[in-house]
Amino acid sequence: MSDIAKLQIGEKTYEFPLVKGTENETAIDIKALRGATDGVITIDPGYKNTGSCQSAITFLDGEKGILRYRGYSIEELAEKADFLEVAYLLIFGELPTKEQLDKFYADILDEAIVDDDIKKIIDAFPKNAHPMGVLSSLTSALTAFNPSSVNVDSEEDMYKAIVKIMGKFPVLVAWTLRKKQGLPLHYGSRKLGYVENILTMMFQKPNDEYELNPIMINALDKLLILHADHEQNCSTSTVRIVGSSHAGLFASLSAGISALWGPLHGGANQAVLEMLEAIKEDGGDTKKYMGKAKDKEDPFRLMGFGHRVYKNFDPRAKIIKKAADEVLGDLGVEDPILDVAKGLEREALEDQYFVDRKLYPNVDFYSGIIYRAMGIPVEMFTVMFALGRLPGWIAQWREMRLRKEPIGRPRQVYVGENLREFVEIDKR
Ligand code: CMC
Repeated sequence: MSDIAKLQIGEKTYEFPLVKGTENETAIDIKALRGATDGVITIDPGYKNTGSCQSAITFLDGEKGILRYRGYSIEELAEKADFLEVAYLLIFGELPTKEQLDKFYADILDEAIVDDDIKKIIDAFPKNAHPMGVLSSLTSALTAFNPSSVNVDSEEDMYKAIVKIMGKFPVLVAWTLRKKQGLPLHYGSRKLGYVENILTMMFQKPNDEYELNPIMINALDKLLILHADHEQNCSTSTVRIVGSSHAGLFASLSAGISALWGPLHGGANQAVLEMLEAIKEDGGDTKKYMGKAKDKEDPFRLMGFGHRVYKNFDPRAKIIKKAADEVLGDLGVEDPILDVAKGLEREALEDQYFVDRKLYPNVDFYSGIIYRAMGIPVEMFTVMFALGRLPGWIAQWREMRLRKEPIGRPRQVYVGENLREFVEIDKR
């Protein structure tokens, strides 16, 4: 293939260079388009064909169902690494040595304290506030208690900001749950690992010991790894674009949390479980809901199915489906919801509508079932997704700042009124 693309507009032909990725992905570099053509731009709603950046963090091939963080396959990482190692890998580019990992965790623990005044903010939220709204606000509020902005030219400053948020975020996550349950706020312990601390901070009752269950630790570890990064999705693009205005790390993350909240993105895990519950309550007639999903007059969509980039299968869903079976078996939980889920999956995989559109179960189809078995309330599911995605957002924000990317500012094709004269209010 030649390394230029030719574009003909009217009589004129323009040439643009091709950019190649390390996995042979090809892009047309149209940086010069507008200048060279006297104002012509491209339009691509939903950015289905637009690369926003060059990135060395995550590779995914939606046709082949491949997902890799920094070159390591998701299957291998989920089996052999723990979440903190994966976080380090994503953010800094290499798997840590034992010493690097110990130091990383010790530095995180030093920062795993949240200013006590944050509790006043939590108290001001109504108990029924959605945990994602609370988490996004608290993350933004952290800015007020950690006023120095990050000097991105200083490795040390960058590192400090990273361990700060890696330390404080799980505390905020646990507090959003405890607030909902009316439990006193809780700090973990330096004696516990990262994921053990999360579980303890979430579940320890004020009058009881909390016995850590290795099945729960392993399941949560795996879920967090599977959610840790997914290249330029909606929330990650949000983090990068907010950060591109040189807004701080915490402010950028807070925006990412809001983007994740939507049911077409991270909010799907909550939506899946609510859908499965509704189908079960309605007598478990999966065929009826398959029909609704296919009916263009009906706004119902089969939540947990389909993906913008995976048009074969979502490799995370495969790992999670197996984990769901194991966790439910190990914990001795029998969940009728799982039968509804399996029934829907079976039917969808054989249904022409779903086959034609390459709609397969995605990561969130089974994650909620595991969270439920772990005793995590449904409204917290997307918060758990955010907890897993944190290192990915940090890595992407760091990469964007280190590469000194320009402020994100798309253009538009204006389709509104042409110039018209103002009409006084009594004449309208
Ligand atoms: N149920 C029924 N029909 C669907 C579904 C679904 N879940 N997803 C897509 N379709 C249909 C859609 O109606 C369209 O049909 P047609 O070509 O006849 O108009 C076709 O499939 C293509 O859909 P699309 O909306 O153009 O695809 P997209 O790439 O813009 O959307 C998606 C991807 C994930 C937003 C969408 O598949 C969806 O809404 N899925 C349900 C929500 C969900 O599970 N989201 C979690 C994604 S994984 C977690 C994450 O990374 O955020």
